[in-house]
Amino acid sequence: MDTLYINIERLCGRLDELAQVGAIDGTMGCSRLALTDEDAEGRRLVITWMRDLGMDIAIDGIGNVIGTWYGSKTDQTLPSVMTGSHIDTVRTGGRFDGNLGVLAGLEVVETIAERGLSPAHPISVGFFTGEEGSRYAPDMLGSLVYVGGLGLESALHIEGIDGTKVGKELERIDFRGQAPCPGPVPKAFLELHIEQGPVLEAENISIGAVDSVQGISWTQITIEGQSNHAGTTPMQMRHDAGWVAGEVTSFVRRLANEIGGNQVGTVGKIDLVPNLVNVVASRATLTADLRNTDDERLKEAELRLANFCDDLSEQEDVRITSEILARFEPVKFDDSLVREVIKFSKSLKLSVKSMTSGAGHDAQMFARICPTAMIFVPSKNGLSHNPDEFTSQEEIENGSNVLLQMMIQLAGLNHG
Ligand code: GLV
Ligand code: MN
Ligand code: MN
Repeated sequence: MDTLYINIERLCGRLDELAQVGAIDGTMGCSRLALTDEDAEGRRLVITWMRDLGMDIAIDGIGNVIGTWYGSKTDQTLPSVMTGSHIDTVRTGGRFDGNLGVLAGLEVVETIAERGLSPAHPISVGFFTGEEGSRYAPDMLGSLVYVGGLGLESALHIEGIDGTKVGKELERIDFRGQAPCPGPVPKAFLELHIEQGPVLEAENISIGAVDSVQGISWTQITIEGQSNHAGTTPMQMRHDAGWVAGEVTSFVRRLANEIGGNQVGTVGKIDLVPNLVNVVASRATLTADLRNTDDERLKEAELRLANFCDDLSEQEDVRITSEILARFEPVKFDDSLVREVIKFSKSLKLSVKSMTSGAGHDAQMFARICPTAMIFVPSKNGLSHNPDEFTSQEEIENGSNVLLQMMIQLAGLNHG
């Protein structure tokens, strides 16, 4: 059989159309926080495309959507070969993060179908609820529930940054489905994704064969002090939650620098109460995002942050409490699938390197239940979680063709 190639115009057409949903004016980016009206509209659009391709649609209790394609010679009793990702975005997101993996999956199906070929195994393309974790923590929520890492009932009770609950929002947007969680175990799971970092571009390499994902630790820290008059309260009499939040924020950066290696640390969200120019803040809530490829170093970072907060609490006479929002250990992908990514990239004459992922991905959840790997394509200037996120057509085409070859290999192809 000749080598098949995806149709890049068709794929980019769908990427463009999906990016119009929740488009951020004047940019290429999108805002489709999980389970918002924009997310719902994006979901409905992708489901329309799945239906057009003749896929069976299953929506599970956490709102994951799995489209499954059976060709004329597919054995429907066999486990699916699954690909996919997410279509929710951060509030100020790009158009590629997650969306590429889902739409490239549809492109794989269409490429095979239009040649009149049929896979031996069913091919499934999924998009998973709340991968970003920006509205509802933890990140990778839908895929975590799919693989049985979190019970459905607990997930439905998660409260978001706006006080809404996952279950209620799923009902509101009509995406609380009937398919069971945990879901069926696939034969294998593959995810195509933009790198979201600078490595491939800097080294002029087309494909990343992702062999691992670093560990993720998210903590919400709440500081309760005392509000008071900004003009009259002597400095030594303050219990200033705003200042303490600032100290914690700079400590997170110092901590990452001191631990060094792969350690990163971010305070991406701070809320002050009452948040007024002339009032010492009574309350601050902030998030610490710590990540490392080495779980021992990550634990060290968590401990040092906790100790720092304890000391500050005593020194400033403020109450500091913390809540874990997400904690995932580093994940290793399936060696033989990673080798296949390298092999197929080379056979398509594409430069390739093994690498680790700095971002979290649905694939890291699937690695718990089936052989899993990821394919990365370059991100311009290493930008992501930013409306300017960009990956060229050629780079998308390269990655999607590697995905296609991998899916064909795993699903097996027959003439239909
Ligand atoms: C998900 O995008 C994450 O890595 O934060
Ligand atoms: Mn993503
Ligand atoms: Mn993301």
